[in-house]
Amino acid sequence: MKKGILHTYEKFLPLTEKTPLLSLCEGDTPLIPLGNIGRELGVELYGKFEGLNPTGSFKDRGMVLAVAKAAEEGAKAVVCASTGNTSASAAAYGALAGIPCFTLLPAGKVASGKLAQAVIHGARVVAVRGNFDEALEMARTASREKGRLAIVNSVNPYRLFGQRSAAWEICDELGSPPDWLTLPVGNAGNISAYCAGFEFYREIGRISRLPRLIGVQAEGAAPMVKGAPVDNPETVATAIRIGRPVNASLARRAVELTNGQFLSVSDEEILEAQGILASKNGIFAEPASCAPLAGLYRLKKMDKLPAVIRIVMVLTGNGLKDPDAAKGRGEALVEIDGTTEALLEVLGL
Ligand code: F0G
Repeated sequence: MKKGILHTYEKFLPLTEKTPLLSLCEGDTPLIPLGNIGRELGVELYGKFEGLNPTGSFKDRGMVLAVAKAAEEGAKAVVCASTGNTSASAAAYGALAGIPCFTLLPAGKVASGKLAQAVIHGARVVAVRGNFDEALEMARTASREKGRLAIVNSVNPYRLFGQRSAAWEICDELGSPPDWLTLPVGNAGNISAYCAGFEFYREIGRISRLPRLIGVQAEGAAPMVKGAPVDNPETVATAIRIGRPVNASLARRAVELTNGQFLSVSDEEILEAQGILASKNGIFAEPASCAPLAGLYRLKKMDKLPAVIRIVMVLTGNGLKDPDAAKGRGEALVEIDGTTEALLEVLGL
């Protein structure tokens, strides 16, 4: 039975007897073999479908711990800035713990499903006329100035601690780490958490090597690739529309340590990859989550994708969160009269 991150990894996490063992049965997400696409790319490909977490993204793994620790430490409220998924997760776990949640979102730049989640879970949603980086700075300052207002962005070390669990699940399921692990990079917390998770497993002897970490960004929001902040980040993948990643140095270390790399892909490539994943392999992931697949196609085109290696792609968020990104794509809708004849005509078989 699914038990959630805090129960499952009690021994590996910084819990005390006072930490409430919150759970929405997060984690334990499927590692889906992506045979149709893998064959095309000439690699053994898997998707770790984090979109099947309770709020539809990987954020739940770290949020459950961050909110449990906030409760343990007597926080009166939690606060976060978010491109959408963090706010949905903070709002849900805040609701579970009975702690009020304030979320700061870049006005007009958050996918509709994510906004709906924050609202229905009862968060106080503040739309900031500015981008994510500015909203995060505001949230950090507010939490410093107001006692007992816990910030639950990935500057909170408990977030990254909980997110390590995904690396552990992958190793446990495959019996060894993959050759490559590729994931989208925004605020650069998740890639750092994966690295720490793999390093920990190596330390305790569960694995003997680290996978190469391949971090993929959108071209209009690629500070890790450029090696410098981006002032006005822009991309269709709003989840990773971030110009000043707070975990940049940890992420750089992760890539250096694992002999990995950062690369960027265009919005067109991201949307194309989203379509391929959905139409060729039956998985609907949000645009940001498809940046890694776009990256693999690009490497393949450049003849830089080794054959036969085992690759895990982290599908960080569910496509249902951002229905607008899918609208108007694929086959056009056909409207008919309510008669069998009209249907048969459309079927044309
Ligand atoms: N994929 C999705 C679906 C995300 O929501 C995010 C980050 C990332 C990838 C990048 O992860 O920041 O750890 O490098 N979303 C944050 C949010 C910023 O507010 O929901 P990262």
